[in-house]
Amino acid sequence: MSGARSSAALPGAVRVRTSPSLALVKYWGKRPGGRNVPATTSLAVTLAGLDTRTQVRVAAPGEGDSVALGGEAQPPERFAPFFDEARRRLRVGFRFAASSENSFPSAAGLASSSSGFAALALGCAALAGREGNPATGALASELARLGSASAARAVYGGFTLLPAGARRAERLEGPDYWPEFRVVVALATREKKRDSSRGAMELTRTSSPYYAPWVRDARKVSREALAAFRSRDAQKLGELMRLSYLRMHASALAAEPPMLYWLPDSVALIKACAALRARGVGAWETMDAGPQVKVFCLASDLDAVQAALREAAPACELIVTKPGPGPDLEPLPGDEASVVGSETR
Ligand code: PMV
Repeated sequence: MSGARSSAALPGAVRVRTSPSLALVKYWGKRPGGRNVPATTSLAVTLAGLDTRTQVRVAAPGEGDSVALGGEAQPPERFAPFFDEARRRLRVGFRFAASSENSFPSAAGLASSSSGFAALALGCAALAGREGNPATGALASELARLGSASAARAVYGGFTLLPAGARRAERLEGPDYWPEFRVVVALATREKKRDSSRGAMELTRTSSPYYAPWVRDARKVSREALAAFRSRDAQKLGELMRLSYLRMHASALAAEPPMLYWLPDSVALIKACAALRARGVGAWETMDAGPQVKVFCLASDLDAVQAALREAAPACELIVTKPGPGPDLEPLPGDEASVVGSETR
């Protein structure tokens, strides 16, 4: 495999913008085999307005692969399997250098790894000349999955599905499919979480007596949630979203050592959603591997939902979001690319 690239038209650097993929129905646990293949089906929405901006360039000769997040160099071992596999799949020999910024807190349970690895996969594919190829979406989804399974979904906008056992996600519908769809993200903290999803789901798989029942039950929940999504039934989808995250957290809570992500404000927000539903306002929360609470509601209930969440947890910042578009990708102009240092063409 050669380190040189064949076409003079290929960019030396690209800029990619992606948004995180919020699972309405959760992926939690991997199939054995070490390839980041999900054990449960996830149904997700890409969130508008929360942005990851990543610049990926061909590394200079002699330079290794590197990733910086918010200006901080990231541990190379976290990214090595991804870059090695990316080179193999993209049939290139050069190394990649990436720098990334999030417009929202990183590693705090806001799915920053989904948008991060999606941007990286799209950027690497573009540098290898796979941009514009109709297969790129699928290829980038498969590559992104190697970094973080939720990232397989974030290479698409709108609503996505990552089936259990699948190597790539599918785009279900664009962002306009459900115009009333809103998500209020309540930030219970801006601090970084201690347990990565990766380690936590593996610990759940290997030590929780509730892991197998979780995986079994998730089949039914995801099937029913997909049907509710297909008929735009907010009430049904909302109820199934709640079952999904609560059962995921129940399996993690039963691990050894147990994993409890919730803070007092998370619980206050969960209870506020229950009180809203009791008075006929549709508000269905979900949580990931962190204390943040994300509330699905329809646009007509947004004011009531925000007011109740604010009252329940006044210190929590609220971010209102909706289904977002797919990623943007632009080659960097030749002079900018050469400033960041590109390999020989
Ligand atoms: O893809 P990872 O390793 O960041 O794990 C994502 C796990 C959850 O956010 C809890 C659920 C999901 O499907 O996004």
